[in-house]
Amino acid sequence: MPGKGRRLLVTGAAGFMGSHLVDALVAEGHTVFGVDDMSGGYWRNIHPQSEFTVLDLRHREATDAYLRKVQPEIIFHMAADATEGRSQFTPLSSTERNYLAYLNVLVPAIREGMRKMVLISSMSVYGAQSPPFHEDMPRQPEDIYAIAKAAMERATEILAEVHGFQYTIIRPHNVYGERQNIADPYRNVIGIFINRLLAGKPFFIYGDGEQKRAFSHIDDFTPYTVRAGFDDVANGQIFNIGPREEYTINEVARLVLKHFGYDPDNPPPEVKPIYHPPRPKEVKEAYCTLDKAQRLLGYRTTVSLDEGIRRMVAWAKELGPQPMRYLKDGLELITENTPATWVKQMM
Ligand SMILES: NC(=O)c1ccc[n+]([C@@H]2O[C@H](COP(=O)([O-])OP(=O)(O)OC[C@H]3O[C@@H](n4cnc5c(N)ncnc54)[C@H](O)[C@@H]3O)[C@@H](O)[C@H]2O)c1
Repeated sequence: MPGKGRRLLVTGAAGFMGSHLVDALVAEGHTVFGVDDMSGGYWRNIHPQSEFTVLDLRHREATDAYLRKVQPEIIFHMAADATEGRSQFTPLSSTERNYLAYLNVLVPAIREGMRKMVLISSMSVYGAQSPPFHEDMPRQPEDIYAIAKAAMERATEILAEVHGFQYTIIRPHNVYGERQNIADPYRNVIGIFINRLLAGKPFFIYGDGEQKRAFSHIDDFTPYTVRAGFDDVANGQIFNIGPREEYTINEVARLVLKHFGYDPDNPPPEVKPIYHPPRPKEVKEAYCTLDKAQRLLGYRTTVSLDEGIRRMVAWAKELGPQPMRYLKDGLELITENTPATWVKQMM
């Protein structure tokens, strides 16, 4: 492969954010290896010029053998079970796919001489502290997914100190856009809203819809992940990446309805949003400071939520409605607090 020829590995390469990252790295002329177990990824996302292998990172021996063979210089670890809200109901599989799978990658990678790990973590590690979340705030995970992400971060710091490799930790928040899995009934609020409307059905809002989030379009995420991988200024650093502006879920709902051509103030009854009880452990407000990413990585927001949703709706209309992909083996814990939309597979 021509160009700069760095040997890079992207885990979760068939997923939403991983596939955009592979595209960007291939475009820069690197040799890009990708792995994914296809539990949440799609073949259509895989870049034809990348070296893709189906690999379940929960399998320690297979992952070890793969890393021995590939010996990447830099790893971008994107693979995850990112269903944060569901993790309270699937704590075992969440931990296996997040913390344990990560160690299965990290340990042989260190042994094989990896120079740098770019770990895609999550804003969830800040927990229920008062926003805006700043990178120097302590990790205070409030759910099972966040416990894994916090542990992954800390394990990276400790093993880097002991064994001497570089790392950057990135904490994205609510990334959305073209190629996002819109068939996941457990996460990706914008994707679920879009998929329901594609099927001519209403979507569900948990709680009163006044919970606020900052959303990042994928095009405002990928370039800074690339930069974090190659620029020494990012070494040993943690970055929040994403815009500062917050929107309520009700506001998001209105934008999605608008881009489907409905009057958000008066949608037809068949697509009028349906309100459900709030999900356990869902925080009311979550947004981050971004001055560090602006200062060191040159971050700036270029895609407004309105424009980003317009682009995503246009892409999803081409794709068409997707059948929701529920967990094959079901939830590990079903109690009175498990959302009925999941137990009864209402979507
Ligand atoms: N999208 C967001 O809003 C958001 C926010 C914060 C953090 N993140 C993090 O960003 C990363 C990418 O998320 P995404 O939104 O692209 O999700 P995604 O589900 O599209 O991508 C994750 C990929 O990991 C793969 N995967 C899962 N378990 C695996 C295993 N055992 N072995 C190999 N591959 C496996 C899935 O098949 C999927 O393709 C994740 O680490 C997620 O936690 C995402």
